[in-house]
Amino acid sequence: MKVSLVLACAGKGERTGLNKNKLLVSVGGTTCIEKTFSTFYNSLLIDEYIIVCADKDKKEISSLLPTTVKFVCGGDTRTQSIKNALEIVTGDIVLIHDGARPFVCKDTIKDCIDTAEQYGSGIATVISCDTICKTKNGEIDAYLGKSELYNVQTPQAFKTELIKKAYSFVGNNTFNDDGEVFYKYIGKVHLAKGNRNNIKITYKEDLLLLKQAPLCRIGTGFDCHKLVENRKLILGGIEIPHTKGLLGHSDADVLTHAIMDAILSAISLRDIGTHFPDSDTKYKDADSIELLKQVLAMIKEQGYAVYNISAVIMAEKPKLSPYIVEITKNLANIIGIQADAIGIGATTLEGLGFIGREEGICVNASASLIKQSI
Ligand code: CTP
Ligand code: MG
Repeated sequence: MKVSLVLACAGKGERTGLNKNKLLVSVGGTTCIEKTFSTFYNSLLIDEYIIVCADKDKKEISSLLPTTVKFVCGGDTRTQSIKNALEIVTGDIVLIHDGARPFVCKDTIKDCIDTAEQYGSGIATVISCDTICKTKNGEIDAYLGKSELYNVQTPQAFKTELIKKAYSFVGNNTFNDDGEVFYKYIGKVHLAKGNRNNIKITYKEDLLLLKQAPLCRIGTGFDCHKLVENRKLILGGIEIPHTKGLLGHSDADVLTHAIMDAILSAISLRDIGTHFPDSDTKYKDADSIELLKQVLAMIKEQGYAVYNISAVIMAEKPKLSPYIVEITKNLANIIGIQADAIGIGATTLEGLGFIGREEGICVNASASLIKQSI
């Protein structure tokens, strides 16, 4: 028995708002189409691969897949795309699958094929766990219950001759899926075992699910400034009363500097020296909190937000514990996270070295960032 796969890839991905076919958006070094395709390929259950896609995407898609796949031009609707693809299918059984369902698994593929072989059709479904209702004008119009309601997914497998016959009747009509075409023109559609993870990438945020690794990055930062007379001592944007202050081109807020470096380092954006060079007069006496705001804008641009911060201040004097709460609140406010997501410790160096001699203050900081958008 020969099995063909038709992979529907001819959509525009309009709901992602990305102006690009969602199947070709690279996330964490992969694309949706590669992930979807590889599951079928590795299953060793498929003999013929047919990709239905828009002409403009063909070159890019073919560069990602084996040379043995066949290409068919898509239509204006999914129904028309599948109709086009079915014309060149040569298998006894054809599996039709959305390129946008990258979490399909081998068990589901196999169950669809086996069910179609036995009954003529086998479509991936899962029972609905949520109550489903019909709505009208923002209100519930009717409860549909849940005990007999199923979510229909793909793959959907059919005896090729039957689904080809069904599609010969569709004309320019549009259907929800292939099972519906079969149901209208051939007869009963059989259920196969879908799986709950087999969701369809539809909106922009769904693309994040493609990432294999946790969407979290960690960075470290370190800074040191000299303690001198006639300078203010500023830590985390708060002025601390002391006989000396920190020397620097900017306001020398050593804590904020180490935190900024940790944030930048987490997503490989170099360090503050690169972005705010002390050779630039623009940063003379700069308010480091303003620079921190710029760093936050840079990571936001890359779709990241700070998740938490941890830092330790190494200073012999003054005693910092009375100021830690105020410093923490100020930084939390600027960064836009809860105060309990910032942990700041302070330690002396027991009189040892330049810190012990009160010649300078150092800070070591770590930051974790989470990916929030593409
Ligand atoms: N599809 C297709 N031909 C079309 C429309 C859709 O082959 N004319 C494919 C899509 O590429 C996708 C699958 O059918 O893999 C399911 O469609 P959908 O999730 O609606 O994707 P898009 O149509 O791309 O997205 P949107 O509706 O947001 O534009
Ligand atoms: Mg669509």
